[in-house]
Amino acid sequence: MAGQQAQGMAAQAGQLAGRHIVMGVTGSIAAYKAVEVVSRLRKLGAEVHVIMTRAAREFVTEMTFREISGQPVAGDMWAPVHAFQVEHIALAKLADLVLVAPATAHVLAKAAHGLADDMLSTTLLATRAPVFFAPAMNTNMYENVATQENLQTLRKRGCHIIEPDSGHLACGTSGKGRLPEPAAIVAEVVRYFTQSQALAGRKVLVTAAGTREPIDPVRFLGNRSTGRMGFAVAAEAARRGAEVTLIAGPTSLRAPAGVRRIDVETAQEMRAAVLAAYDAADIVIKTAAVADYRPATVAEHKIKKSEGELTLTLVRNPDILYELGQKKIRQVLVGFAAETRDVAAYARAKLAKKNLDFIVANNVAESDAGFGAETNRVTIYGADGSEERYPLLSKDEVAAHILDKAQSRLSR
Ligand code: PMT
Repeated sequence: MAGQQAQGMAAQAGQLAGRHIVMGVTGSIAAYKAVEVVSRLRKLGAEVHVIMTRAAREFVTEMTFREISGQPVAGDMWAPVHAFQVEHIALAKLADLVLVAPATAHVLAKAAHGLADDMLSTTLLATRAPVFFAPAMNTNMYENVATQENLQTLRKRGCHIIEPDSGHLACGTSGKGRLPEPAAIVAEVVRYFTQSQALAGRKVLVTAAGTREPIDPVRFLGNRSTGRMGFAVAAEAARRGAEVTLIAGPTSLRAPAGVRRIDVETAQEMRAAVLAAYDAADIVIKTAAVADYRPATVAEHKIKKSEGELTLTLVRNPDILYELGQKKIRQVLVGFAAETRDVAAYARAKLAKKNLDFIVANNVAESDAGFGAETNRVTIYGADGSEERYPLLSKDEVAAHILDKAQSRLSR
């Protein structure tokens, strides 16, 4: 899906000027396509440093990559140990982005498990740059639970996976596992860098985590939100150059770099903080799990247990998002819907009732989605009737899709 979106963007000369891309090439029949990827990246102005695995050398010669990239090719297993270490650290540090294309099942498994026995795997372990993998392999290998779990692990750690295409494969079968065309791979890289300033000068307001509604000085009503989804949105908006205000309920997460964080505890505190920042905001994304009810009174002292039942009277909390929808003038307003059944119907009803531009629906009954999980499986419904269903993705990837949508709505 991301590949299709990116393919729609025309790459322009000089777009990657000054960028250092370290490209890992592994042992797949699709290695020949990597030559064109390198060539295209260079034409866009990037400096490309290729690392070949030993298996990759069985498919394409080192000389080809040296000539196309204009740089020495790394990956000599027999280099003296001190030079090898210096080089992998140097490339890991130099990289603005690491791209592994094609990425075999083997290299994905090594990366997922943190193995470091050659130039590419040590570079992957040592780099702090964003890492993109473009898997290419036989369909059965791709669909194997081991490979899928390795991909999931890499996604959770924030790596970007460029989905393979479906079609005729070199092994004679047909199915998913084909390396996407070089233009599509390069478009993903371009998209990553061009997004980096797409929200410059814009203000993005994000809410995250759950509220806590006190019962007495030691007890509260709360929910299972960890704040991960909201922190991922805030981090992605900051990465795109936005001025980000993150209003967070109690969470142990650290604020992403460059984000203004306001900590709140109750729904009423969250409402006050959100309303104070709302008028200036261009995009508002409400991932927070706000308590709909709070105890009617908060006991001054710890409630002592006694025989029999204890009844708590709850009163309604304000619906912050509904209020924002009523006050909306120019903001792009994005809500979430946490449901356990009839997800589409409830989400669409909230979209309309709260006057939102988009609602991100997740089924929080699924163990790998919603509360607490590192991943999420969402459908984004638009006020224009659009509906986009996404596969299981890391919360970082979900955040990127939400911001893509909000951004395109903003520019309209
Ligand atoms: O934090 P994580 O562990 O990563 O989990 C992520 C998440 C499950 C919390 C997130 O993906 C999610 O679904 N957030 C919305 C949770 C929720 O409260 O959904 P809701 O369907 O009850 O509310 C709908 C929308 O109205 C939400 O945008 C909510 O922020 C907002 N709301 C709700 C009640 C209220 N009183 N005021 C509000 O503003």
